[in-house]
Amino acid sequence: MDQIIIKTESDLPAPLFTAPAIPDYIKDTYHWAYIDPATVSWLDRGLIVWAILWGNSGRLMRAAFQEIKPGGSVLQAAYVYGDFSPSLGRHVGPDGSLDVIDIVPLQVDNCRARLRGLPWARIRLADAAEPGGGPYDAVCCYFLLHEMPRDKKIDVVRGLLDSVAPGGKVIFVDYHKPARLHPLKGVMNLIWRKLEPFAIDLMETEIEALADDGDAFTWSKETFFGGLYQKVVATRR
Ligand SMILES: C[S@@+](CC[C@H](N)C(=O)[O-])C[C@H]1O[C@@H](n2cnc3c(N)ncnc32)[C@H](O)[C@@H]1O
Repeated sequence: MDQIIIKTESDLPAPLFTAPAIPDYIKDTYHWAYIDPATVSWLDRGLIVWAILWGNSGRLMRAAFQEIKPGGSVLQAAYVYGDFSPSLGRHVGPDGSLDVIDIVPLQVDNCRARLRGLPWARIRLADAAEPGGGPYDAVCCYFLLHEMPRDKKIDVVRGLLDSVAPGGKVIFVDYHKPARLHPLKGVMNLIWRKLEPFAIDLMETEIEALADDGDAFTWSKETFFGGLYQKVVATRR
């Protein structure tokens, strides 16, 4: 049977599917990182992710996967460069399912190519604020919140918390305010100011505080690498 790939509004009659628009924060701040095919093909490599995360990519990925039981239904809230999505797919395994979503069509194409050979893992175009497809056993939100303005952070946290089943977890891995004497504090502040301006308010905000339904969850938090990174897990009661 032919496979039908639904990527854009033109693939289906309008009432059935409306593709989300690429938000302004991506067009204005992250065009070079996620929309421009020339830089995207260069950036989508494990070595680049490893360097951007100061050698911590494997450790942070394992910290996220540790919260996710193989064989469950899992949502990945946005594509991540390198081997993250196929690794998560292999971790979930053929007895489970992985849905990856992304709001940029080029990223959907990249991810689809990476997920070849893992039929239980799929990618679709969607906004993490309205992911659909739930409820899931686990939702993984990896280095997404720091890229969006505050209002969008709140919408995405709400959309992801709403997507998890009772007993299920939403796992957020992202930047965090580094320790006062962290040797990389100066360079990270420069990078955030110049390239990732929406990361700055995450330094002063607990992810839990972005949730308007926080009492329905138990929350845990762990920091890594001198506080530069955090894992926050919200488990639905
Ligand atoms: C997960 S984040 C950052 C990951 C990190 N820089 C990396 O790739 O290693 C990057 C992805 O988030 C996607 N994205 C941004 N806003 C989104 C939203 N509201 N819904 C779904 N995906 C979104 C971007 O298109 C991009 O592919």
